This record gives sequence, structure tokens and C-alpha cells, in this order.
Amino acid sequence: MRIAVFISGTGSNLKSLIDAEKNNEFNSSINLIISNKDAKGLFYGKGANIPSFVIKNDNEILEKLKEYKIDLVVLAGYLKKVSDVILKEYENNIINIHPSLLPKYGGKSFYGIKVHREVFENNEKYSGATVHYVDENIDSGNIVLQEKINIQKFNSPEEIQKEVLKIEHNILKKAVKKIEEEK
Ligand code: GRF
Repeated sequence: MRIAVFISGTGSNLKSLIDAEKNNEFNSSINLIISNKDAKGLFYGKGANIPSFVIKNDNEILEKLKEYKIDLVVLAGYLKKVSDVILKEYENNIINIHPSLLPKYGGKSFYGIKVHREVFENNEKYSGATVHYVDENIDSGNIVLQEKINIQKFNSPEEIQKEVLKIEHNILKKAVKKIEEEK
């Protein structure tokens, strides 16, 4: 598959995919990177010579996806809701990585450290990360892969975030491999 990765921030999930491609952990190729702002993660795209663009308008993004013949869109820390313009064309071909065990701690206000703060304050025994298909709601599509860890020994939301991010990096590339094998 030809993959586009959408980012808004540091891009560590993007980097994990770029490294996985380099290590032949899946057969797909990352052919395009889109960000809704001048995100630090764009640096990784430049380093890997992947065409990268800051585009805010979903119609323009859709044009780019078609121009680069993209099969699968991967939202990796993309903090903007994907509009119907793109969802219609790419239904069941958009996945997202979320830093909790969905459906718990997902939805509109659950992103970044806020997820882990809620998990910590609720004394959850486990947390983890989820890769899911993107539908018209937020964090609600069918789950592709999920991995959990016991967080009872962690003493802060930041510690949970750090450990969950490692899981994200591990399951996102596995999800790409699973999807390419299913196609
Ligand atoms: C990650 O925790 C991801 O799950 C969430 O936003 C964060 C982005 O991290 N959606 P990065 O930009 O991939 O480093």
C-alpha cells in the first residue's frame, strides 16, 4: 500500500513508521506527509525525503491524496477532525493511533496528557494504546490492534504517557502490516 501520514506535533509515531519501513517491517511505503500546521514532526519527513506539506483545507488534502495515489491514511497525532470530504473517499482506509484502551478515555476532549491524567486519577490498573479505523465520530471506529500494560507501579500521568507512547510506536507498524496482509 501507498501510505499518507497526518501529523500535528512531535511526530514520534511518524518516525516509528519511517524506521519500520526502512527495516522492512511492512511492505507498504510512506509516500506523503500532511500536517495542519508547521509541526516539528515534518523534520522526519524531510530527513527521509518524503513529500511533506502543511495543508489546512480538506479539499486540498484530498487532491494531494489522489495526486500521490494514496491507499491508506494514518493519523499519527493529528489533532484535527477529518471531514466528510476525505472520509467519503477513504472510508475504511483511515486509521488512527490513540493513547488509551478505547472505547475508554476516547472522544472529543481526550487527547495528549489529558488522557493519562484521567486514567491516573481514576486509579486504573491498566492503560495502553489502540489503533482503530476512523469513522465520522471521534475515536469510535473498529479496532485494528490494542495493547495494554499494567500501570499500577507508575506514579504520574507523565510516566504513563511515556510507557504508552512506546506501545503506540510498537502497535502502529504492526497495524499497517496487519492491514496490508488483510487486503
Ligand atoms: C500520541 O500520544 C498519539 O497517540 C496522540 O498524540 C500523540 C502524538 O505523538 N494521538 P507524536 O506526535 O506521534 O509524537
